[in-house]
Amino acid sequence: MKIIAKTLYGFEEILTNELNELGISETISHNRAIEFEGDLETLYKVNYNSRLTIKFLVELFNFTANDEDELYDFIYHYEWEKLFGLEQKFAIFSTVNSDDFTHSKYASLKMKDAIVDRFRDKTGKRPSISIDDPDITFNLHISNNEVSVLLDSTGESLHKRGYRSKILDAPMSEVLAAGLIAFTGYKGEVDFYDLMCGSGTILFEAALIAQNVPSGYFRKHYQFMKWKDFNPKLLEKVKKESNYNIKKASKYIYGSDLSKKSIDVLREVIASHDFFSIISVKVSDISQISPHSEKGLIVINPPYDDRLRIENIDELYRKAGKSFKFNFENHDAWMISSNFPAMKFVGLKPSKRIKLFNGNLECRFNHYELFKGKRKEHIENVSEQE
Ligand SMILES: C[S@@+](CC[C@H](N)C(=O)[O-])C[C@H]1O[C@@H](n2cnc3c(N)ncnc32)[C@H](O)[C@@H]1O
Repeated sequence: MKIIAKTLYGFEEILTNELNELGISETISHNRAIEFEGDLETLYKVNYNSRLTIKFLVELFNFTANDEDELYDFIYHYEWEKLFGLEQKFAIFSTVNSDDFTHSKYASLKMKDAIVDRFRDKTGKRPSISIDDPDITFNLHISNNEVSVLLDSTGESLHKRGYRSKILDAPMSEVLAAGLIAFTGYKGEVDFYDLMCGSGTILFEAALIAQNVPSGYFRKHYQFMKWKDFNPKLLEKVKKESNYNIKKASKYIYGSDLSKKSIDVLREVIASHDFFSIISVKVSDISQISPHSEKGLIVINPPYDDRLRIENIDELYRKAGKSFKFNFENHDAWMISSNFPAMKFVGLKPSKRIKLFNGNLECRFNHYELFKGKRKEHIENVSEQE
């Protein structure tokens, strides 16, 4: 099968590395997607383990079409009745980039007509559509005249890990949080800190990474479980083999935040599973935290002053920079933000700046190396920063 892993902007390289670690050596990189070949076992394995993928799509077929009638004809001739049953509800999502097919909704409608007509001609009945809760989801991709029909193996996005029931303000996508951690290279070998942890997405993802817990450990459902060829024994085997790699953590994960409400909710999630017992959280201002050991890693996602409005954003970023520099000497600190003017107030020169998106917001994920002896490089005059 040709499998497409859909991911976030800027994640192509880290996702390729992750797939390599899962045993997939040949990959082709596209914009926000990685393509590779695999069988059903591979498909189950990547769905269960990938932290950096949103969805895995399987290509059913591709063809060339010059207009809607050709599109309809080609799709009608596929044996849909072998793929799913009349009792199953289906949905079609399309992406169209073409002069001949200008309306993606119209293309989806044509595809839907072809499938429904085929069922009606073969069985006398038609399956129904459900956009909100489909059993089978198709993706129709049209680029100029090249049409590709794909089947969604994942269903609800993989960022839904299933380990959390309560959600507070501005939670970050678990896929983004896992990606931030992948960029730092963290695998659990040093103490980890999020000094503005909010609802704790970065902390939970770090805890799973540190212990090699598969991203799907808590998740109950994938859409491939509704396919006619679903093999529950194979899925159990994949889960068992993946879970075999779970290990004990050797270091701790520390979270802190000014908001008592956030920390209270976090404590509930932490108490809900043993894997989270390596996380320790407390209510604190970022300036009041000091490290528990000589070396460690900090990843923070401060307010951007966008969805969460705060009094003096520049002062907050200056305070974060000071805490990095003076409290966390010898540590590595990373910060993601879309507020570029405020980021200058951190007052440290980033050794790396990675362009990413948090939702629709263009961000930079900056790395600050806080090694001893570099205090001279602490830039008092923020205007020197770009
Ligand atoms: C964008 S949210 C973090 C979201 C988090 N990454 C998540 O996944 O939920 C920023 C957090 O910074 C916290 N915060 C704001 N000022 C702070 C300060 N001076 N010290 C510590 N935390 C602070 C807020 O309470 C908020 O929870």
